[in-house]
Amino acid sequence: MRITVIGCGYLGAVHAACMAKLGHDVVGIDVDAQKIDELAASRAPFYEPGLEDLLKDVQQTGRLTFTTDLSAARGSYVHFICVGTPQKKGENGADLTYVDAALTGLLPYLAPGDVVVGKSTVPVGTAARLAEMMQAKQPSAHLVWNPEFLREGHAVADTLNPDRFVYGVSDGSEDHTAVAILDELYSAPLALGTPRLITDHPTAELVKTAANSFLATKISFINAMSELCEAAGADVTQLADAIGLDDRIGRKFLNAGIGFGGGCLPKDIRAFMARAGELGADQALTFLREVDAINMRRRFRVVELARELCDGSLLGKRITVLGAAFKPESDDVRDSPALSIAAQLQLQGAVVTVTDPKALDNAARRFPELHYEVDTSAAVLKADALLLLTEWQEYRDLDPYGLGESVSSPRILDGRNVLDAAKWRGAGWTYRGMGRP
Ligand code: UGA
Repeated sequence: MRITVIGCGYLGAVHAACMAKLGHDVVGIDVDAQKIDELAASRAPFYEPGLEDLLKDVQQTGRLTFTTDLSAARGSYVHFICVGTPQKKGENGADLTYVDAALTGLLPYLAPGDVVVGKSTVPVGTAARLAEMMQAKQPSAHLVWNPEFLREGHAVADTLNPDRFVYGVSDGSEDHTAVAILDELYSAPLALGTPRLITDHPTAELVKTAANSFLATKISFINAMSELCEAAGADVTQLADAIGLDDRIGRKFLNAGIGFGGGCLPKDIRAFMARAGELGADQALTFLREVDAINMRRRFRVVELARELCDGSLLGKRITVLGAAFKPESDDVRDSPALSIAAQLQLQGAVVTVTDPKALDNAARRFPELHYEVDTSAAVLKADALLLLTEWQEYRDLDPYGLGESVSSPRILDGRNVLDAAKWRGAGWTYRGMGRP
């Protein structure tokens, strides 16, 4: 099938490459010429494990091309909208400028019977509005809302083997023409038994925001428990292990630490609250305000813990922050808790060095005032304290014995609770975790 993917960021670039891998002829379109040039040269414009190999692999087949020219959408049967929906400046709501521009730009090239598939995370009601815009221009085209659940760092595997498909169609019916088209498009993963659910447009839109809100709530729940554990002298890691063994609760997403960040969970829960307010249902989501507040408190708490670790004052203390990305296996620093904590420490008088295996270029663009060092051994040299804030494997594997020789004072704050406290203490370090005695 010939398909168009509009928007070649974290979502669209991976989606385009994966659709080509599934055997389709794909054209990826983006307004950013530099991104398109890189993708056309089989280079991933951001770090995502497996993406570059996949690009090389599928581009050799000739099934994947990239362009900035929207008219390349002409002749495709299915058109995916994969553009970003960032938080509006100074407001909680989602900025739909890019979604609207993508559809408006696409309309002249739609043929009768074409299928437009929205994958971007949007406020409920957006699909109905876009469907009306389409109806006016190309009445026989169909709009499907098909939310994407991929995680950065696992994006290729999540796209090729998702845990479910949701197709939101106008009448919510299995018999809708677009259902069979999407089934054909996704025939390979469907053949492996991936569940698929057919819903109406608003339900499909809500599935995505509800899923992200649940995940955010789970993380903030365990971080609230972490606050209690600190107050009571208990260990949140053991608590999470114990409650996680109840399979109604589950252990996943119960890692307490510095909280969630990234381009999705924080802005999605805020946009969800804003949308609920517009719909007159704001009371239903007031708990998300608390989820957000608990999450933000973690960042302040880490700064306080770092101050305690540095004998009560951050002034002039050399602090090395291990990790800048919002999570490991990503170079994404959007709303990264690690980076926001590093900036806060610097503002409070510490001399901060940030290291990260992949995210330093993005971090330096976001916070040029911080000092960056790519080499871990150089970054930790003569540090008064280390803060592990993004749990890359190489930081989990650090040897406390060898490292003790490099630093000025062997003190470490484990912002992700991933280190073996007994081992680090045994090697002479002052170890602090989050919500651990
Ligand atoms: C999230 C969702 O997990 C995806 O399903 C969704 O498709 C995506 O948003 C999206 O809307 O596009 P992602 O932003 O890649 O994916 O990251 P997550 O793996 O969800 O992690 C988010 C944050 O939570 C990270 O900062 C991570 O460190 C933190 N986290 C995660 C915790 O603090 N504790 C945990 O137990 C798990």
